[in-house]
Amino acid sequence: MKVVVIQGPNLNMLGHREQNIYGPMKLEDIHKQMEGFAQQNGIEIEFFQSNLEGEIIDRLQECMGEANGIIINPAAYTHTSIAIRDAIAAVQIPTVEVHLSNIHAREEFRQKSLIAPVCAGQISGFGPFSYHMAMVAITQIMNEVKAMKEAQQAQQAQQNLQK
Ligand code: DQA
Repeated sequence: MKVVVIQGPNLNMLGHREQNIYGPMKLEDIHKQMEGFAQQNGIEIEFFQSNLEGEIIDRLQECMGEANGIIINPAAYTHTSIAIRDAIAAVQIPTVEVHLSNIHAREEFRQKSLIAPVCAGQISGFGPFSYHMAMVAITQIMNEVKAMKEAQQAQQAQQNLQK
């Protein structure tokens, strides 16, 4: 099973940008922690960061046939991008939205996510731990989808035998 982690604009600046909001941890250190969890759970993981909306959309589309789950922090595009929302809806891969800060406790323009309605769920406000929670959530979802597919296959095989 494979998870693709997509990081939006300015998240490459973590550890430097607005430390009072986002904390001191760098993006590569967050990714190392996620990699540890993935290894322990036998999950393949790949990371992608871009400051460009179109590149994020391209990466989402590439996930088709490649990823079983997506974790995305669309950063500022959370609040503006119908195109990223449409790409997530189009690929039909379980997706978890994640934020370091609690977007619902911040400026009014951050309190609305255009992305959340097409995601399995949103995790917001736990700093780098939000990503760990997203890993737990996506692992659970991927396991459920796998179990459901296996049950469907077993049922199909049973029906074929009865023909
Ligand atoms: C963010 C919240 C967004 O509002 C902001 O534009 C970001 C980071 C977060 O992780 O808390 O860049 O997505």
